[in-house]
Amino acid sequence: MQGDACNLKPVLSGFDLILAANLIDRLYNPVQFLSTVHERLNLGGVLLIASPYTWLEEHTRREDWVGGYKKDGENFTTLDGLKAILGGHFRLMQAPQDVPFVIRETRRKFQHTLSEVSLWERIA
Ligand SMILES: C[S@@+](CC[C@H](N)C(=O)[O-])C[C@H]1O[C@@H](n2cnc3c(N)ncnc32)[C@H](O)[C@@H]1O
Repeated sequence: MQGDACNLKPVLSGFDLILAANLIDRLYNPVQFLSTVHERLNLGGVLLIASPYTWLEEHTRREDWVGGYKKDGENFTTLDGLKAILGGHFRLMQAPQDVPFVIRETRRKFQHTLSEVSLWERIA
């Protein structure tokens, strides 16, 4: 099945695991997805977010970025933004980990990226 992560049908709920792999920085409204995703998970269920946090205006309007900008003169990271948005319903289960992946662009050129993986348990 395919669906818009920012406009999922209510029937898509009752899950124990939701995997958002290299997704959030491609969404047109990531806050919409992140602030409602708890409704789709059972209590004790796990949300896995993997992302290189490559925010680009071609995918997401700057004002809708989850992080990657300065706030009150300080760096505000996407992990800061995830904690702020998810904090009311989730517990960060362990320190996030970088997971590398490689995309072969041409026969001689490779893009090496670090995706940050964080695991969030629904607690409320
Ligand atoms: C960087 S790719 C990652 C693909 C795959 N999950 C992976 O990890 O290799 C981003 C994916 O997000 C999908 N995507 C973009 N906007 C979306 C949306 N609003 N709802 C659901 N998927 C979306 C794109 O179609 C694309 O497949």
